[in-house]
Amino acid sequence: MNLLKRVDPIIYKLVLAEEKRQKEVLEMIPSENYTSKAVMEALGTVLTNKYSEGYPHKRYYQGNRIIDDIEMLAQERAKKLFKVPYVNVQPLSGSPANAAVYMAILNPGDKIMGLSLAFGGHLTHGAPLTFSSRFFKSVQYTLGKDKLIDFTEVEKLALKEKPQVIVCGFTAYPSIIDFERFGEIADKVKAYLLADISHIAGLIVAGVHPSPVNYAHIVTTTTHKTLRGPRGAMIMVTDKGLKKNPDLAKKIDSAIIPGLQGGPHDNQTAAIAVALLEASKPAFKRYGQQVVKNSKALAKHLVAFGFDLVSGGSENHLILIDLKNKNVNGAVAALALETAGIVVNKNGVPFDTNPPFYPSGIRLGTPAITTRGLSQKDMIKVADWMHRTIEEVKGVDLPTDKEKRKEVWKAKKAEIVKNKKLLDIAKEVKNFTAKFPIG
Ligand SMILES: Cc1ncc(COP(=O)(O)O)c(C=O)c1O
Repeated sequence: MNLLKRVDPIIYKLVLAEEKRQKEVLEMIPSENYTSKAVMEALGTVLTNKYSEGYPHKRYYQGNRIIDDIEMLAQERAKKLFKVPYVNVQPLSGSPANAAVYMAILNPGDKIMGLSLAFGGHLTHGAPLTFSSRFFKSVQYTLGKDKLIDFTEVEKLALKEKPQVIVCGFTAYPSIIDFERFGEIADKVKAYLLADISHIAGLIVAGVHPSPVNYAHIVTTTTHKTLRGPRGAMIMVTDKGLKKNPDLAKKIDSAIIPGLQGGPHDNQTAAIAVALLEASKPAFKRYGQQVVKNSKALAKHLVAFGFDLVSGGSENHLILIDLKNKNVNGAVAALALETAGIVVNKNGVPFDTNPPFYPSGIRLGTPAITTRGLSQKDMIKVADWMHRTIEEVKGVDLPTDKEKRKEVWKAKKAEIVKNKKLLDIAKEVKNFTAKFPIG
């Protein structure tokens, strides 16, 4: 980064500071990961200079011979890895990918049926305030008392509402998803099944989570979570999808451009191709297996420390903790953990009565720490640090009255970031993470 240092020392310093931060903490936000140096090199290439609206051999601009090769390589690698007949690698990220799917298969006012955001669905699955509920009708399913998908309820709702698309694949769901059952329900009501595997794509590649490819018509995924690529996304159409609608692939392509996007980010496409190559290697399979082993081990230790885990544990890469029994708000816990060098996000829990900005839980996961090389034996340490941190802020709940909450939170925040015990834990974490270099 010598040139960056000379040209823009301010940005250079900020990048270095962020690099240091990423090194010295346990990154445990389940949607984050450390991508490889090769992926980052591909991102920082001359490919960022090119305009290539359109698709390979059908571009609106000249000079795309090499870009065509790159995009086709990314497509071929994705098709092989996920065993699908068609893929579009141009979505700029996960939300635009889902928007493009809706644009391809729905008319304004058609009905989307997805898991409620408050129960672990994504914003783009029909949540209030988003395009997915503003331009389409949205009906939302929730979870059963056991915090798992209640397929009887899903089927009942689908039969009653007759949505044009059912969305499965979630943002905060620690259990295995039964795609086959979703497929049966979608078929029964003649809806499309969209499986959004953004969170679990890497686990599917590694064979530690079932694939939706035989049951869904369309599969979307981000490329930057468990798949460990650059920020980006892909839309895949399955054989089942092409059988339902032979024009589906064409419709998806034209929903991306001219429907929603202009030129693809060719540097991102190349980086996705690199990540897909990496994901096809045996080492990636071992990585995915280790992510799940770590998550299960961490869940077990957290339960032993008295944490209340949504659905009782973790079957994938993700853990959702309900902190009500610790009498601490999720926002307080997340800040305390960050102060202690453990980065997670505050998160609602099923049937939460607290507002989204001050929810009752936290969400964490093992994709990034597994990339660094942590294994099951290290999870007891992580659980112990989390336990000590939460003990330090136990009892710090926030008032429900908005004005009072603002005041109390401001004072508590100032206290938490200076808390000596938490800062001591951060030092322990820093010493520990130094043993696990990134990349
Ligand atoms: C299930 C799911 N779909 C889509 C997205 C959106 O991805 P992006 O943030 O890249 O728009 C996310 C991101 O968290 C997600 O969890």
